[in-house]
Amino acid sequence: MIEVKILREDFPILQREINGYPLVYLDNAATTQKPNSVIDAMNDYYSNSNANVHRAVHTLAGEATEGYESCRRALKSRFNANKAIITSGTTEAINLVAHAWGRANLSDGDAIILTEMEHHSDIVPWQMLAQEMNIELRYVPVQKDLTLDMELFEAAIKGAKLVCVVHISNVLGVCNPVEKIVEIAKQNGARVLLDAAQSAPHQEINFEQIGADFMAFSAHKMCGPTGIGALLVNDESFDEMQPFMGGGDMIETVSIHGSTYQKNEQKFEAGTPRIAEAIGWTEAIKWLNSVDIKIEHKRILESARWLSGELRRMGMTVYGRHDDNDAAVVSFLHPTMNSEDLAHLLDARGFAVRTGHHCAQPLLDRLEISGTVRVSLYFYNTHDEVVSFVNYLEEILERFA
Ligand code: ALA
Repeated sequence: MIEVKILREDFPILQREINGYPLVYLDNAATTQKPNSVIDAMNDYYSNSNANVHRAVHTLAGEATEGYESCRRALKSRFNANKAIITSGTTEAINLVAHAWGRANLSDGDAIILTEMEHHSDIVPWQMLAQEMNIELRYVPVQKDLTLDMELFEAAIKGAKLVCVVHISNVLGVCNPVEKIVEIAKQNGARVLLDAAQSAPHQEINFEQIGADFMAFSAHKMCGPTGIGALLVNDESFDEMQPFMGGGDMIETVSIHGSTYQKNEQKFEAGTPRIAEAIGWTEAIKWLNSVDIKIEHKRILESARWLSGELRRMGMTVYGRHDDNDAAVVSFLHPTMNSEDLAHLLDARGFAVRTGHHCAQPLLDRLEISGTVRVSLYFYNTHDEVVSFVNYLEEILERFA
């Protein structure tokens, strides 16, 4: 087990002070910090190897292509997938399913299942497609205990063609029973898209074993750069996808009469891709591969449980349950104090948290609230940081609440 003190040394930003206080970064569900290896690899690419990929035969082009493709190999190996399409992030990956698979395989009157726990990026693309193609959207409700209503899911699945479900909620940290969801979907002939934006950084996910058809996630929530993500696809669904964006790199031949397309993932990666970002992401994956995720997850989940208890003791409402597979995310509300005011006061002492609707308004509607304060931990956070957060929060409440 690597000590958290040693893990932290890889992240230069954690040395930063805010207003003379050490930065305590507790907004990891929004984005994670980057280790030196990621920053150095991207810098090295631009300093020494910058070129376009899949085109020229010169040395730099070869290095750039190798760097870009090494990211794809790292993704396939870490998540056990046959196909990894590189996108700009989770959002683009989900939109890609809607355009490349949805448009080609759904038709008037078909149904898609979503849940009330989805991030906007797994709702809005489907609403847009539903309008365009006259598709029915069925939402699985979230129950009082913050879990999905599986009975209603089983009722809704009849006749549905696709299930879109978030693996771990970015607001609640609740991990959904995706194996069960996939099993029920498959029994009913429906495809499954997993939004793994919050789970890919926290769990060891075996895409093939889970049995979903699509899995979308982003690099920046797992210590990689912004602007890059991936869509894992199984072979059957991959063969059913039609090109979405047209342009260079995704074609085999082009004439004035028409074009033929690549057979592999490049078919969905038109234009110059995110080369430096891919090189950075490969390093982030190597960094994650070097961490014992299960042990680190248990450690930060313990801190999240302790924090939840302390917040409840202080009179806050906590929205989360923190079961073993849930993320170390703690969403809470003070009965009277405005969340943004609280976040500003926290920031004054170096504590970075997120407030607002977290791009999950239907979930907040269900909970009958308009937002929460959210603390989200990652592997470089220490329990001492969480304790100092609680101590300062008590100070704030004594002075202002
Ligand atoms: N989806 C990200 C969050 O939860 C941005 O903060």
